[in-house]
Amino acid sequence: MKIVLIGATTGIGRSLAEFYASQGHELVITGRRTALLEEVKNAFPNIKINVLEMDVVKTDEARAKMDEAEKLMNGIDLVIINAGVGFQKATYEQEMNTIDINARGFTALAQWSYKYFAQKGSGHLVGVSSLASQTGSAYSPEYHATKAFMANYMSGLRMRSAKYYPNVFVTDIRPGFVDTPMTKQNKGMFWVATPEKAAQQIAVAIAARKKVAYITKRYQIIAILLKILPEWLIAKLF
Ligand SMILES: NC(=O)c1ccc[n+]([C@@H]2O[C@H](COP(=O)([O-])OP(=O)(O)OC[C@H]3O[C@@H](n4cnc5c(N)ncnc54)[C@H](OP(=O)(O)O)[C@@H]3O)[C@@H](O)[C@H]2O)c1
Repeated sequence: MKIVLIGATTGIGRSLAEFYASQGHELVITGRRTALLEEVKNAFPNIKINVLEMDVVKTDEARAKMDEAEKLMNGIDLVIINAGVGFQKATYEQEMNTIDINARGFTALAQWSYKYFAQKGSGHLVGVSSLASQTGSAYSPEYHATKAFMANYMSGLRMRSAKYYPNVFVTDIRPGFVDTPMTKQNKGMFWVATPEKAAQQIAVAIAARKKVAYITKRYQIIAILLKILPEWLIAKLF
């Protein structure tokens, strides 16, 4: 497969890049810290890995980089939009940055990818949202709101596929807790997965063309609880 991986420098994205490279797939890997992307490329000298610097906040530039990625590989089969940030008790600037990256940046790239696959007649778009998409949060309301945005956006794209583009697949990946630089600041995490385990389960869900996948799988229980418990109880528990 020819894969574009947005946000591959650390954490889940990096483990995904390493997993797909180890399976022999051709990759374009992106992020702002290109030195970290070069490390991934150098670790797999026999695999065609292209490094592209991309800041998803610069939406026009980021979309132009998708054109470049398409040319570099002469086509794209799978786009994984993993780039994201999250803060606890964020400042105003951090809240706006979260919206810029997780919602605006995501939309810029999801729109490019879906349109590209629709024109081609096939393809697979994957967005890494979160279990956080299922509820609000006292500590990070903007993060949960952006992840709900992503989940609903992808749900809409799946509806569009059902109507018009049956061979364009959309998978919403919803991790619970994964041990990455983003979660270093978090307290009270449970069932924490390694990024490698998360990447493996994500790859299985993508291969199965799942609509939605919780990572790890048992977080689906929490997702159900978040949908049925009253807000006051969720505020007490989480
Ligand atoms: N870890 C968890 O428990 C957890 C749970 C649920 C959902 N998630 C989601 O999983 C995804 C990956 O998170 P992670 O935990 O692996 O965190 P991470 O290690 O901090 O990785 C975040 C990735 O996003 C990229 N990124 C951030 N801002 C960017 C920007 N402006 N432009 C381009 N790329 C940008 C980073 O690359 P650069 O900084 O080099 O640009 C990095 O590759 C995120 O969407 C996160 O919300 C994580």
